[in-house]
Amino acid sequence: MLQRTTGERIALRASRAILTTCVLASVLCRFGAAAAQVAEPAMVHDFHDAKHWATVFESPERAKWQKPDEVVSALELKPGQTVADIGAGTGYFTRRFAAAMGPDGEAIGLDIEPAMVEYMKQDAARRHLKNYIARLSKPDAAGLAPHSVDLIFFCDVYHHVPGRIAYLKQLTAALRPGGRIVIIDFHRSAPVGPPAAMRIPRQQAIAEFGQAGYRMVGSKDFLPYQYFLEFVPAGAPVESGSHS
Ligand SMILES: C[S@@+](CC[C@H](N)C(=O)[O-])C[C@H]1O[C@@H](n2cnc3c(N)ncnc32)[C@H](O)[C@@H]1O
Repeated sequence: MLQRTTGERIALRASRAILTTCVLASVLCRFGAAAAQVAEPAMVHDFHDAKHWATVFESPERAKWQKPDEVVSALELKPGQTVADIGAGTGYFTRRFAAAMGPDGEAIGLDIEPAMVEYMKQDAARRHLKNYIARLSKPDAAGLAPHSVDLIFFCDVYHHVPGRIAYLKQLTAALRPGGRIVIIDFHRSAPVGPPAAMRIPRQQAIAEFGQAGYRMVGSKDFLPYQYFLEFVPAGAPVESGSHS
C-alpha cells in the first residue's frame, strides 16, 4: 500500500480542492454565459420519440379540450394563404391548416426535432396533402423567408423557445402585409400541460410580444385550459372590424 507523509497528504487534498473548484467554476461560467444569452428561460424537453408523443398529442382526450377544429375555424384562414406552424410536433394542426386552405394554400410544419419532421412528412404523404410541408427549424430561428407567410401559429410551444423576444423579432420580416401571429398556450391553473412553473402566463406573453414589437389585436376564450392571443406588427395598419 502506498504510504504518504503528512505533507504529501495535505498537498493531495489541496490539489483535489483546486480541481473541484475549477470544475465548479467552469460549470458556473458556462451556466452564467447561457443565462446571459437567453433572457427568457425556456423549458427544454426531449421530443425525439415521435411515436410516443403521437399517442399524447393525437389522443381523443386532448381533442376534448384542445378543440382543434374550432381553433382552425376561429383563425378564419383564406384559400391560398400560407401558415407556418412553429413547433408543429406530429402535425396535429398543420394537416388541418393544409386541408382548410385548399390546394392553393400551404401549411408549413416546423420543428427542431428531426423525428417529428419525419413523422409529419409521412403523415402528409399518407393523407395525400401536397400542400402540407414539414421542415426542420433551429431552436432560435424559424428560418422563414421574408414576406412568405400570412399566419404564424404557436400551440403549446412558446414556453420551449429560448430567447423568445429575439425569436419573435425575427418573425416580423417573414409576415406578408396583413400577416399575424397567433399563440395558444396553457394557463398556470390548467390541470393539463407542462409543469406549472414552466408555463408562460397570458400577461407575460402579451408583455413579451409587446417588447418584440407587436400589438395585440384579438383574443378568444373558448379553450378551457389555454389562452388564444393574436398579434400583428405594431406598425401594421389598424383594420376596422379586426379579430376579437
Ligand atoms: C408540446 S409539442 C406541441 C406540438 C404541436 N404544436 C401541437 O399542438 O400538437 C412542442 C413541440 O415543439 C417543438 N419545439 C420545441 N422547441 C422548439 C423551437 N424552439 N422551435 C420549434 N419547435 C420547437 C418540440 O420538438 C415539440 O415537437
